[in-house]
Amino acid sequence: MARDINKEEFTEGTKLKLEIFQDCFREWFPVFIHNPFIKQVYVYDLFAGSGKDAVGNAGSPLILLKEARGDHKQHCVSLSDKKSPAVIFGFNEKEKQKYNELESNVRDSLKSCRSDCKLAECPFENNIHIRQGDFHDLLAEKRFLEVLSNKHFAKFILLDQYGFSQIEDDVFTKLVESPKTDFIFFIASSFVKRFKDMPAVTAYFDKDKIIYDETQPKECHRVIANYFRNLIPQNKEYYLHSFTIKKGTNYYGLIFGSNHTFGMEKFLRVCWKEDPLGGESNCNINNDYEEGSLFYDSSASNKRIEVKKLLVEQILAGVITDNISGMKLTMRLGCEPKIFVEVIEELLKEGKINVDKSFNRASAGIHKVKKYQIEVK
Ligand SMILES: C[S@@+](CC[C@H](N)C(=O)[O-])C[C@H]1O[C@@H](n2cnc3c(N)ncnc32)[C@H](O)[C@@H]1O
Repeated sequence: MARDINKEEFTEGTKLKLEIFQDCFREWFPVFIHNPFIKQVYVYDLFAGSGKDAVGNAGSPLILLKEARGDHKQHCVSLSDKKSPAVIFGFNEKEKQKYNELESNVRDSLKSCRSDCKLAECPFENNIHIRQGDFHDLLAEKRFLEVLSNKHFAKFILLDQYGFSQIEDDVFTKLVESPKTDFIFFIASSFVKRFKDMPAVTAYFDKDKIIYDETQPKECHRVIANYFRNLIPQNKEYYLHSFTIKKGTNYYGLIFGSNHTFGMEKFLRVCWKEDPLGGESNCNINNDYEEGSLFYDSSASNKRIEVKKLLVEQILAGVITDNISGMKLTMRLGCEPKIFVEVIEELLKEGKINVDKSFNRASAGIHKVKKYQIEVK
């Protein structure tokens, strides 16, 4: 049985995981509460734990609640406008005792927040649902499925499972198919690798589709992320990115999925802030010079060089013919869209391409950026 994460102080690896959850939600939440087309915002933490670790550090449900208020309760103020969408929290935890602790921790958190709040009404207190039960039973509930499939409801789904066995292929596919649904899940990738031939793993993963290079242990979470990437229907526009977390000799990781470029832009920003060399790990996954060493240069990391090279090839071969598809490809390769703009600038300087009169250097919010055509000279 897995050790209980909430019974000890969170490890550094767990703290990093929680920090990424937090930053990811911090980026995500304001987008949807200010979107006039969204009627309700659902925030789900479906492996919620008890809310705190053994020394009182906040776990994911309390972190989500805190972020939903904003540093200065600015989101509470926005949400008190009647035109704002309702925000509904759904916390789920299987273990009875942890569920009880979670209820009490959420109640205390609300009480302490209300004690110094000047707003007449709390936008959250009547909209926090805490459920005790198995995640898979929830996935079969009619109301939950209705929320998932509603394109006027924005959903943020956090799946902080132990191990690897809860996010099966059909769960993943369901999330990918759900509109306005961004999700992030944790997976103990080293364990999938170590036990790849055991029924405990083969029951969940088609082992023939997971090919490891034994000389590259750092790769193991990327391999798992690719397994999930291959489950996405080929003709679907979808974005997936992973972040490897090394803890001791084991590799764990996060996988984030979004069907919108903006969702992926936000997640990539979080990852590149954490890892300025590759935007994908806490363990120098691409063997760059480390910070503090003589040749350290985050602007010329192996990841950036490799992605820029690929973009140049695709542009000069006439495969990429406009900025929007170029920036989308850049994100699929795990880089922020601004890398594409740098490549275009370089090719223009070298006189290798022409761009039409709509040319612009915008690389944020690419769903709103004006499209221009690129022509190879
Ligand atoms: C890694 S912990 C989550 C920790 C939490 N995110 C935090 O920050 O404290 C995973 C939690 O999922 C619960 N769990 C395990 N299997 C579950 C299932 N099938 N359905 C729902 N919860 C489950 C465990 O009891 C445990 O509290």
